[in-house]
Amino acid sequence: MSVSDRERAEGFRGCGCSSVVAERAEGFRGCGCSSVVAERAEGFRGYVCGSSVVAVRAEGVRGRPATTTGVSAHDRLPKPTSAARANPVSMEELERYEPLIEEFDAFRAACERPLPSVVRVNTIEATPERAKRALDEEGVGWTGREWSDAVLELDTDNPGSTWASYHGWIHGQEEVSVIPAEVLAPEPGERVWDACAAPGSKTTQLAALMDDEGLVVANDNNLGRLSALRFNTERLGVTNAVVTNQDARNFSLKPFDFPAFDKALVDVPCSCEGTIRKNPTTLDDWSLGHVRSVAGVQKGILRRAVQATKPGGTVVYSTCTFAPEENEAVLDHVLAEEECRLVEFEFPLESRPGVTEWQGDAYDGSVRKAKRFYPHHNDTGGFFCAKLEVGE
Ligand SMILES: C[S@@+](CC[C@H](N)C(=O)[O-])C[C@H]1O[C@@H](n2cnc3c(N)ncnc32)[C@H](O)[C@@H]1O
Repeated sequence: MSVSDRERAEGFRGCGCSSVVAERAEGFRGCGCSSVVAERAEGFRGYVCGSSVVAVRAEGVRGRPATTTGVSAHDRLPKPTSAARANPVSMEELERYEPLIEEFDAFRAACERPLPSVVRVNTIEATPERAKRALDEEGVGWTGREWSDAVLELDTDNPGSTWASYHGWIHGQEEVSVIPAEVLAPEPGERVWDACAAPGSKTTQLAALMDDEGLVVANDNNLGRLSALRFNTERLGVTNAVVTNQDARNFSLKPFDFPAFDKALVDVPCSCEGTIRKNPTTLDDWSLGHVRSVAGVQKGILRRAVQATKPGGTVVYSTCTFAPEENEAVLDHVLAEEECRLVEFEFPLESRPGVTEWQGDAYDGSVRKAKRFYPHHNDTGGFFCAKLEVGE
């Protein structure tokens, strides 16, 4: 980045690194890292350790930052092959949930079926009508969803290869994965923390729900996944996001010129049991030890999210797993340790309430307010979502 580029970054104190593109990043204090793209990220003071900050937002400029390729970043992540889909799914590990799930045979059968190919229309770049017309023109069949005109099931397994995806009008995103950002319901102009953001499906959805106004801080501790996150924010024309690379458990607000976020999305790493329809080998490495260890990380991240959100603010917690150890037990822990409470929310997909007892442990009764989404109810993956309000 040239000196003049740096000078154009309002409030940007510079960093001396070589590949920063920072334009009018209000309040951005720069850093010492190598890959910053910051264009008017309101309230962002810059950097956070690790190495990657992407803030894309130029005042009054709607254009998309240049993208490097027309192939979407989610296509770079491992996908099930048709051979993998034909393999029998190992359900052994899921049998432990039989006491929790009515119609367990239907649950088991749904887990063994491939997942419908679903996309979310990126309303930053296109209306649902425009995206549907583009799919029609390309001969790609689609089916709408009653609960949202921005969620479409496609008759291709490779939505990333469509023209609509190339234009940034659609993004491959599992139906249940759309839930948490909808529940968080960020408003234009708010400051939102996406604590575990890569590869960016929910970050880009949050930005779209905010009409690309305000600030989304998209954080992930895995440097290797940030390129997909950055790629997706750029491809989908998001200009109100910055990308940070911190361990969310110790996330620092020092780089920002505000004391707390309005809202936080906590879509944690998990044992991914609910993704078995997409990836039939997902349970191959399952162990109770892993479930317990990832639950420790989840507790730390959710606690930090509550601390980093303003009193009265909202935190949404989600996983794509069925294990109560990673769901209700995490909520129970955080309710006991932090100033927050669970709140009821409505969602127009069939769900079951959070469970209050599991294998001899009892949880705070309010965990019933969380929702469990099972594959056989809505023909989706499995998911868990809870909404918390931070105490005053
Ligand atoms: C379920 S994925 C997030 C998916 C993402 N929200 C989306 O919709 O595209 C969980 C993410 O958490 C990240 N992660 C794991 N441990 C973390 C930590 N301690 N701090 C921040 N991110 C973490 C992983 O690298 C992974 O990208």
